Amino acid sequence: MSVRADALRANYTAIAEAVGASTGVLLMVKANAYGLGMREVVGVLEPFEPWGFGVATAAEGIELRESGVTRPILVCSPMPEGDVAPAVAADLQISISSLDALRKLDQAAEESGATAAMHIDVDTGMGRSGFDWRTAADWLPSVRERSDRVEWVGCYTHLHSADADAASIREQWGRFEQVLGQLDDDEGPGLVHVLNSAGIMRFPALGNAVVRPGIYLYGGRVGEGQPDPDPVVSLHARVVHIREASPGTTLGYGVTHRAKEAERWATLSIGYGDGLPRVLGNRGYALLRGTRVPIVGRISMDVTVVDISGVSGVREGDVATLIGSEGGESILLDEVAQLAGTISYEVLTGLSPRLPRVWVAEGSGS
Ligand SMILES: Cc1ncc(COP(=O)(O)O)c(C=O)c1O
Repeated sequence: MSVRADALRANYTAIAEAVGASTGVLLMVKANAYGLGMREVVGVLEPFEPWGFGVATAAEGIELRESGVTRPILVCSPMPEGDVAPAVAADLQISISSLDALRKLDQAAEESGATAAMHIDVDTGMGRSGFDWRTAADWLPSVRERSDRVEWVGCYTHLHSADADAASIREQWGRFEQVLGQLDDDEGPGLVHVLNSAGIMRFPALGNAVVRPGIYLYGGRVGEGQPDPDPVVSLHARVVHIREASPGTTLGYGVTHRAKEAERWATLSIGYGDGLPRVLGNRGYALLRGTRVPIVGRISMDVTVVDISGVSGVREGDVATLIGSEGGESILLDEVAQLAGTISYEVLTGLSPRLPRVWVAEGSGS
């Protein structure tokens, strides 16, 4: 697997330019920066001076702090009770979705003698976390009455369909504004943030103080008609075995492929144990010598077989491309996701630690 630092920078720049210089970037680096490598991504993008970094768990935030990051780190998901004290000790900013969570944060701050920074998560339709926007009059007074140990840094909501439905962004934004409208000028959060990658591309003017991009930075598309990111990740495997398959030769678990005529098969050193989605068996493709070849049979844990009958000159040791470009041909991340019946996020985060992540300064996407 190779990761292009120049493409990552270009995608960051596209986002920063879309929202303008007065809007900060809270870079989403959760799930090991969508599988690319959190520390490396932070190292490449830190020179752009993002406002801060977004993670999903206390452990991710602590790892980032321990790697030397001094900027704000926001834990976006609700956290188990036992994680709160370590998160406060590591100076992580905490998302609060309930008054109970606020009490626990206060308690952790009191016990450690530190001040805890919170962002109020407002649910405007995502449903998985956050205070209900409809009942702000019930919960806002208790948020106001919090102790001095808890600093209110931010207030945010998360969009559920920004890639597919522009009207839903307006609807969620309107709900969020109903909550913001109930705050007095001198109280509450300095920072308001709403937009993910798709939201940024559709409505950069709603940028607020901070935006929270993820997938676009890492090369995933953000919806029909939106600008394409530069491809960041490519996936490669070596040809480790070639065989001539006479008619009737069977292939793979469950024998879902059988040579109809004389075929030539190449075995690639990548399988679902590396994160190549198993459903791509008999459905996906690889590029070899600049030609698109079909994956045949079921994908195994460690190897995948492609039919190279139509390509001459393939040799053991050749490098096949499963995501990326070669010659004039490309297999895009989003194409792979679509063939696998999933989304680019799942393909990227599914790439397993067994795959070496080779960072290249610049490249052609191959
Ligand atoms: C709270 C939150 N903000 C922002 C993002 C980034 O979204 P995207 O990767 O679509 O830009 C995510 C990712 O799922 C998220 O959970």
